[in-house]
Amino acid sequence: MKFTYWLFISLFMVITAQAADKIILSEKSNSSVAERKTSEERGKKLHDSECISCHTPKSYISKDHKVKDFAHLNTFVQMCATNLDKSWFEEDVADVANYLNTEYYKFPIKTE
Ligand code: HEC
Repeated sequence: MKFTYWLFISLFMVITAQAADKIILSEKSNSSVAERKTSEERGKKLHDSECISCHTPKSYISKDHKVKDFAHLNTFVQMCATNLDKSWFEEDVADVANYLNTEYYKFPIKTE
């Protein structure tokens, strides 16, 4: 009876130790810096593959460009993506807007 009890306990401990190892491993791989890209980097990639056919950077920095602030920029990115039938996630739109803002528009970003 006592033996079975200890066997059970040690088995339980081995299993929990393995589970903990797996959690630690997955946390490590998630935070691997080499794999991570910033929002701007992902935005640039998306923009360069999907949007550059109609837009040269000049469209963004010309004096009469239409976008007036950061929220407006998001709206335009969303509008062009929708027009092109891209089913972008909100995150994709945000990445491209971040990229365009960092690179060209340079609007202050409100963080509330
Ligand atoms: C088929 C051509 C075309 C493609 C491809 C396209 N756009 Fe546009 N985009 C336009 C046109 C035309 C306008 C001007 C709209 C207007 O003047 O009302 C515009 C305007 C914009 C503006 C506002 C520019 C300003 O005046 O400041 C942004 C930002 C923009 N697009 C982002 C994007 C993004 C991001 C993509 C990729 C998803 C994209 N566009 C792809 C045609 C395109």
